[in-house]
Amino acid sequence: MKIIVIGGNGTIGSSVVKELEQRHEVLIACRHGRDLICDIGSEPSLRALFAKAGKVDAVIVTTGTTHWEELSKMSAEKYQIGLSSKLMGQVNTVLIGTEYLNDGGSFTLTSGILNCDPIKAGSSAAMVNGALEGFIKSAALELPRGLRINVISPTVIEESMPKFAPFFRGYQPVPAAIAALAYSKSVEGLQTGQVYRVGY
Ligand SMILES: NC(=O)c1ccc[n+]([C@@H]2O[C@H](COP(=O)([O-])OP(=O)(O)OC[C@H]3O[C@@H](n4cnc5c(N)ncnc54)[C@H](OP(=O)(O)O)[C@@H]3O)[C@@H](O)[C@H]2O)c1
Repeated sequence: MKIIVIGGNGTIGSSVVKELEQRHEVLIACRHGRDLICDIGSEPSLRALFAKAGKVDAVIVTTGTTHWEELSKMSAEKYQIGLSSKLMGQVNTVLIGTEYLNDGGSFTLTSGILNCDPIKAGSSAAMVNGALEGFIKSAALELPRGLRINVISPTVIEESMPKFAPFFRGYQPVPAAIAALAYSKSVEGLQTGQVYRVGY
């Protein structure tokens, strides 16, 4: 398969690339990337990415930003960061990428644990994660040509603990290589409309 991993140079993405590169042609897309340049927050950038990549068999997104701050300090503008990046960046990847997916191809998006098991300062991530899970369940019904879509919802990643530990006291982290298996299952399996919860 020919697979694009948007965010494939990141903590989760690099493990996904390592897992899938053993069997497939994998192109990494990001803002300062190895193979393809793309900013998921920009529709023109997404269009340029797919125009350059051409037809593919799978698109994985392992990126998307949200604003982390306690509720009392949040604002519409701060929520908009997560809505534009992690939510609409992934939704637009599906809308724009559909015509570039070969028949039977797949989208695999990324949410996270925080809509199910929330923490302080995580309301934007929780909101966006919940929206992504609703989106993929509905989109799976309407995608044409046997295209599939799933979302991976990992708990906190072990390699991210130096940065995230103060937010995730009491959580059992999962290695990125374990999360990568869920992406493999989504791309190489047959299921659609699924939320794969990893580590919780
Ligand atoms: N790490 C965790 O514990 C964890 C747990 C659950 C869910 N998640 C979710 O998983 C996703 C990835 O997390 P991560 O920790 O792997 O992130 P990360 O290590 O920060 O990596 C993300 C990668 O995406 C690229 N990127 C950033 N903004 C981009 C944009 N606008 N367009 C295209 N590429 C962009 C970056 O490369 P460039 O700078 O070159 O663009 C970066 O290397 C996030 O949505 C996060 O919420 C993470």
